[in-house]
Amino acid sequence: MEIALSSGYKMPVMGLGVWRMEEKSIRDLILNAIQIGYRHFDCAADYKNEEEVGEALAEAFHTGLIKREDLFITTKLWNSDHGHVVEACKDSLKNLKLEYLDLYLVHFPIATKHTGVGATDSALDEHGVLDIDTTISLETTWHSMEDLVSMGLVRSIGISNYDIFLTRDCLAYSKIKPAVNQIETHPYFQRDSLVKFCQKHGICITAHTPLGGATANTEWFGTVSCLDDPVLKGLAEKYKKTVAQVILRWGIQRKTVVIPKTSMTERLRENFQVFDFEISEEDMDTIKRVDRKYRTNQPAKFWGIDLYA
Ligand SMILES: NC(=O)c1ccc[n+]([C@@H]2O[C@H](COP(=O)([O-])OP(=O)(O)OC[C@H]3O[C@@H](n4cnc5c(N)ncnc54)[C@H](OP(=O)(O)O)[C@@H]3O)[C@@H](O)[C@H]2O)c1
Repeated sequence: MEIALSSGYKMPVMGLGVWRMEEKSIRDLILNAIQIGYRHFDCAADYKNEEEVGEALAEAFHTGLIKREDLFITTKLWNSDHGHVVEACKDSLKNLKLEYLDLYLVHFPIATKHTGVGATDSALDEHGVLDIDTTISLETTWHSMEDLVSMGLVRSIGISNYDIFLTRDCLAYSKIKPAVNQIETHPYFQRDSLVKFCQKHGICITAHTPLGGATANTEWFGTVSCLDDPVLKGLAEKYKKTVAQVILRWGIQRKTVVIPKTSMTERLRENFQVFDFEISEEDMDTIKRVDRKYRTNQPAKFWGIDLYA
C-alpha cells in the first residue's frame, strides 16, 4: 500500500527504520525485510550505518532480489550540514551506494556548528550545550534542498520534526513544497492538529517512533511504552493481533506512513502483517482517548538543551 506524494512519486506506507540497529545485523535484517515485503527503508546520516545499509542494498540489487526502482530509500541531512547540503547529500549517496534518493529530509529544524561533511556527532559548547549556528536560516537550507531535485540527486524533499509554525513558514518560502514531514507520533503522542494541518496542505506525515520507541526509549530516555497500555492490549485481544500490529494499523488508517524499527526477524514479519485487518471507526475513537501528549524521543538528554521547551 502506498501514499501519493505532492512530488508525484509514491511512498510505501510501511517502512523499516534503521536507527539503533546493530551494524553487524543490518545486512540480514535488510535482506530479510525485502523478502518479507518491505520496500521502504528510513535511514539518516546521523544513524552512522548508511554504509552497512548501502552494502545490503547493493547485495539485494546484485543478486536480483529486488530492483532499485522498486525500493523507496529515505535519508536525512544532519544538523551540522545545513551549510553544506549538496556535499552532505552526495556523501550519503556514496555511503548508500545509490545514484538517487527517493526522499531527503531536513532531520531537525536547527543548524549546528559544522564539523565536517557527514560528521554527525553533535558539537557542544563550553557549557555542554548544543553549539547552535545562528547564521543559516531554514529558508536557505530549504532552497539548497530544492537544488538537489533539479540536480537529479533526490526525487522528493521533506522536513522532519517541524511543528505547525515552522511547517507553515516552509510552505510560504518553498518553491518545491515539502512532500513529507516526519514527526514523532504514536497513540501516546497523537498530535492531531499537526497531522491534520500537514495533510490539509498536501504534506504526508511519516510517523517516526510509531511504537513509542518501546523498550529502546525506556532504556535511553526512561519513558513508558504504549505497548503496555491496557486499552490497546484489549483491542489487540479483540482483533487477535499483537499490540504493535494494532498501533501500526491505527497509524496507517489515520493516513500516516509508519517506519517501526526492529532488530528481530520475527518482529519484522509481525510488524508487516497489518494489511489483513481493519480497526473499526469506534475503536479508532477509543484509541484517540489514550493520547497522553507524551513525547518519548528526548534528545535533550544528549544535547544539554530542550529544543521543544
Ligand atoms: N526523524 C527523526 O528525528 C527520528 C527520530 C526517531 C526515529 N526515527 C525513525 O523512526 C524509526 C523508528 O523509531 P524508533 O526505532 O525510535 O522507535 P519505534 O520503532 O517506535 O520502536 C522501536 C522499539 O520497538 C521495539 N519493537 C519493534 N517491533 C516490536 C514489536 N512488534 N513488539 C514489541 N516491540 C517491538 C524494538 O525492539 P527490537 O529491535 O528489539 O525489536 C525497539 O525497542 C527509526 O528507526 C528511525 O528510522 C526518526
